[in-house]
Amino acid sequence: MKRIAVLTSGGDGPGLNPCIRAVTRMAIYLGVEVLGIERGYTGLIAGKARPLSRRAVGGIMGRGGTFLGTDRCREFYTPQGQRKAIRSLNQLGVDGLVVIGGNGSLTGALALHRLGFPVVGVPATIDNDVNGTDIAIGVDTALNTILDAVDRIKDTASSHQRAFLIETMGRNSGYLALVSGLAGGAELVLIPEVETPMEQVAEVVESAYERGKSHCIILIAEGWKPGTRALVDYLEARQEELGFEVRLTVLGHIQRGGKPSAFDRLLATRLGAAAARELIGGARGVMVGWVNSRVQLTPLEEAVAFQKEIDLALRELSAIMER
Ligand code: F6P
Repeated sequence: MKRIAVLTSGGDGPGLNPCIRAVTRMAIYLGVEVLGIERGYTGLIAGKARPLSRRAVGGIMGRGGTFLGTDRCREFYTPQGQRKAIRSLNQLGVDGLVVIGGNGSLTGALALHRLGFPVVGVPATIDNDVNGTDIAIGVDTALNTILDAVDRIKDTASSHQRAFLIETMGRNSGYLALVSGLAGGAELVLIPEVETPMEQVAEVVESAYERGKSHCIILIAEGWKPGTRALVDYLEARQEELGFEVRLTVLGHIQRGGKPSAFDRLLATRLGAAAARELIGGARGVMVGWVNSRVQLTPLEEAVAFQKEIDLALRELSAIMER
């Protein structure tokens, strides 16, 4: 291999820059040139790329986001878009590609692999819902951001004796809400994976009030149904009997930004370096994941076959802690 390319795709998250840096520096160390593709598959289809030197990826370790840019590219999911991408890769003289992203992006990587192009994936999504890795790049920083917000909200919730609903990201996955609820000492966690009737939520709020708690914190994943707004309306209508007044904070994209944590920088460096080494060494159609504190390869087919399940024992533990 003479030249490889790297791209970031889908929702951004902290740790993408250290990962691009690691891919670049490992490839150059192994004597291979690197191109950075701009704005994910959108830039790939358009053939937008720039050479990455060791220096070009300097000073980005502590920066959130992705300096290459990213996108959710609809065109790429069509056979025509994928053919255009292969043509661009050939025109750019690229022999292999590293794709850094979540489920959708890695499904795109699998499509390129099936078209015969050498590709290796790296899991990066704050949702932590990719198979074949214990943790994806960006998760640790996002959790710390959420916990910082939870701690701050608890201060004001306790001062006013209020119940707070805090909505995290995760349109299909409850991971962020579940883990930050446990680590943040929330009274209840609502996730898409577990059906929880609104009456049950009201019982938790009422019971917290009756036990003399100064606050009641409920972490809600974005994808929980019937949804945060409906729950606010329901609890507000019953405020007299529940005791607590209710407030809502939607954390939104704050969770995706910010300096990557030490853990994310190390994870991104290990996985990025492993991806370049494996691709150049001949690996095809695999994802480099972090399993039992080691780099492990998983076929892309398996990585994206289904959404990784969350550990529901953590929900039970959370309930025991807050009883
Ligand atoms: O997939 C990661 C994620 O952050 C989800 O948790 C969230 O629902 C989604 O991206 C938001 O995407 P966008 O930034 O495109 O609105």
